[in-house]
Amino acid sequence: MTQTDQPVMFNPFEPGFTDNPYPHLKTLREQVPVHEHPMGFWLLLRHADVTELLRAKLSVEEHNVTVGQIRELREAAYGDGAPRSDGLSMLDRDPPDHDRLRKLVTKAFTMRTIEKLEPRVVELVDQALDRMADAGRFNLVQELAFPLPFRVITEMMGMPETDEVRLRELTGTLVRSLEPVNDPELLQQIADADRQITELTIDAINWKRQHPADDLLTALIAAEDDGDKLSEQELVSQVVLLYVAGHETTVNLIGNGTLALLNHPDQRALLASRPDLDGNAVEELLRFDSPVQMSRRVTLEPYEVDGNVIAPGTAVLLSIASANRDPAVFGLDADKVLIERANARHHTSFGGGVHHCLGAALARLEGRTALGRLVRRFPDLRLDGDVEWNGRINLRGPEVLPVAVR
Ligand code: HEM
Repeated sequence: MTQTDQPVMFNPFEPGFTDNPYPHLKTLREQVPVHEHPMGFWLLLRHADVTELLRAKLSVEEHNVTVGQIRELREAAYGDGAPRSDGLSMLDRDPPDHDRLRKLVTKAFTMRTIEKLEPRVVELVDQALDRMADAGRFNLVQELAFPLPFRVITEMMGMPETDEVRLRELTGTLVRSLEPVNDPELLQQIADADRQITELTIDAINWKRQHPADDLLTALIAAEDDGDKLSEQELVSQVVLLYVAGHETTVNLIGNGTLALLNHPDQRALLASRPDLDGNAVEELLRFDSPVQMSRRVTLEPYEVDGNVIAPGTAVLLSIASANRDPAVFGLDADKVLIERANARHHTSFGGGVHHCLGAALARLEGRTALGRLVRRFPDLRLDGDVEWNGRINLRGPEVLPVAVR
C-alpha cells in the first residue's frame, strides 16, 4: 500500500512514465511482483518469473487489446478481407505455423550470415560518424541510431527506395499497437498507419516481382509463389514484421545505449580504451535500458506463478525492463551501467522460447559497431540540450538526442 493506502498498480499513463519507467517498475517489483490488473491482465516483473513464462507453452495468437481495437477500426472502414499487417507473421503465431514462417527466413539471420555483413555495417557507421564530425552538433538518433539499422534491413530485404521520413513516421505510429493505448485519436492514427504501411508493402512486393534479386524479399515472394509455404496475407505480414522489427528496436539500442554511456562517463572512458569490451558493453546496455520493454502472452491452461493460479485464456504482460533490473539476478548495483558485468548476457531483452528474437545477432553487430566506434572517434562527445523521448511505453527510446563533438 502507498502512503495514501491506494493499492500499488501498474499505470503506464502516469506522467513521466515514458521518460523514465524504472522507479515505477521498481516499486511494483518490490511490492506486487506478480499482480492482477483491474483491466483483466496479469503483470510479471521478476526475472525468474519472466524467463520461465517466456519458455512455457503459452499462446501469442490471442491479440492484445490495442491490436483488437485497431482491427475493429480497420474492419469498420474496409471490411474484414482488407489486407493487414498484424496477426499473421511469425511473432503472432503459435507452432506449428510459427515454425513454418520462421524457417523461411532463419538462414538470413544466423550468426555466420550476419558476420558477413560486418564490413558494410562498419562502412555505414563510419559514414555517419564523418557526417557528425562535419556537423559538430546533431541529433544522434537522426544521424546514426535510425539510419544504420534502417539502411541495413532495407538492403538485406532488397526494399525499393522510399520516402524515409514518411516511413519512419508510419512505423513509429504502428509500433504503438504493441502497448496499451488510452487515446482514441492515437488508436485511429495507428489504424491509418497500419493501412498505409500495408499498402506500401504490397507496392514493394509488386515492384520486387519485376526486379527480383538475391535478397530476402525475393526469397519470400518465391515461397509465396510456391503456394503451400506462405499465403499472400502471410507474405505481407511477414515483410512488415521484418522491416519494422529490423529498425524500430535497434534505433533504441543505439539511442538508449549512447545516453547511458554519456550518463556514466567512467564506463564510457573504459569502453573507449577497451575495444575487447564492445560485445559485453552491448549486453549491459541492452540490460540497462531495454529497447523493447514488455511482451505479452495468453495462457492456454491454468498457469501457476508465485502461489497464484492464472486462469486459461488470460493475458499476461511480462515486464522485460523490470526483469533486467532485478537485484535477485543483477545484484544491488542493477541500476548502474557496468560494462564488465559478468552476467550482463542474462538479460531478457531479446525475449525467449520459440519467439526469441530472430534478429539478435544483427542487432548485436549493429550495436557494438556503432557504440564502440562512436566513443573512440569522439572522446569529447557530450549532451548538448534536453533529451526528447519518443513517448512510447514499449519500444521506448529518445526521439531527439542532442549531442556535440566539439
Ligand atoms: C522477436 C527484441 C532487433 C526481428 C523479438 C522479441 C524481442 C525482440 C523481445 C520477442 C517478442 C516476444 O516474444 O513477444 C529485439 C531487440 C532488438 C531487436 C531488443 C534490437 C536491439 C531485431 C532485428 C530484427 C528482429 C534487427 C531483424 C529483422 C525479430 C523477429 C522476431 C523478433 C522476426 C519474431 C521472432 C519469432 O516470433 O519467432 N525481438 N529485437 N529483431 N525480432 Fe527482435
